Amino acid sequence: MSTAFDAGNGKITVPDILGRKTSTPSSPNQSSDRGGSDRRKIVCLTAYDYPTARLLDDAGVDVVLVGDSVGMVVLGYENTLPLTVEEMLHHTRAVRRGVRRALLVADMPYGSFHGDKDEAVRNAVRFVKEAGAEAVKVEGGERRMELIAQMVEAEIPVMGHIGLTPQSLHAFGGFRVQGKTMEAAQQLLRDARAVEAAGAFSIVLESIPRELAARITSELRIPTIGIGAGPECDGQILVLHDMIGLSLGHTPKFARRYANVGEAISHAVAAYAEDVREGRFPADEESYHLSSEVRERLLAIRRS
Ligand code: KIV
Repeated sequence: MSTAFDAGNGKITVPDILGRKTSTPSSPNQSSDRGGSDRRKIVCLTAYDYPTARLLDDAGVDVVLVGDSVGMVVLGYENTLPLTVEEMLHHTRAVRRGVRRALLVADMPYGSFHGDKDEAVRNAVRFVKEAGAEAVKVEGGERRMELIAQMVEAEIPVMGHIGLTPQSLHAFGGFRVQGKTMEAAQQLLRDARAVEAAGAFSIVLESIPRELAARITSELRIPTIGIGAGPECDGQILVLHDMIGLSLGHTPKFARRYANVGEAISHAVAAYAEDVREGRFPADEESYHLSSEVRERLLAIRRS
């Protein structure tokens, strides 16, 4: 398995992502010079297979996340909860084969880190060892502090994830914007600080008010990656299938659509079906031919 790890050849590493913090606690929301490091916003997208992973990597995406959203947008589950470690490993391996430059992060699926912490670390190790992930993502705030610290201790870089964490679907009572009340906002601030204190190298802020995300971004030293959390975050992530029009379910209002691949596929399939039914496909130039000699000899053979 090739992870193409060779810092200095353009490969994005965990320290590179840490160095992409656009603001520091002493200079909120301003670019400050920390040794001339790269201050551009961090561009993240999800990928679940080899061809899209290659396309994203070639396009210069900084972080490719094999999100557990694969369960919904590719495997057709109603939510992310049924997804297994084996399924996530399978998709992570495929993405690994397509990614050379971007940092590859694998999502820890529901149930893989919710019980025994040693088992959770063993599961995280599998993503690095068996699938070539360079970091894992773990949903949850304060209550994941110990676990994140244990993973970091085991040399596994961790991306945190707070706000609307889809694995908390039942606890939240649905997919709802989080952090809207004073109490909820304060809890999310505590969660963000805890994830940072535990040693995470970045944190996803999902579906929270812009003002709260801006406050968390200005307080933390690690980069924040927003999804439905406003423009002040240090980076942004979207689910690929949402932004290219390939998700079949509801897409949230923050998921700006940059292409309509779903429509392109439907048109292509309808045109193919019509061509097959009308005998227009395949054409002669799409067919293989015998040499005239073999054709004539074949014609001369009688049916036995
Ligand atoms: O699973 C996923 O795709 C995610 C991102 C949306 C952050 O967790």
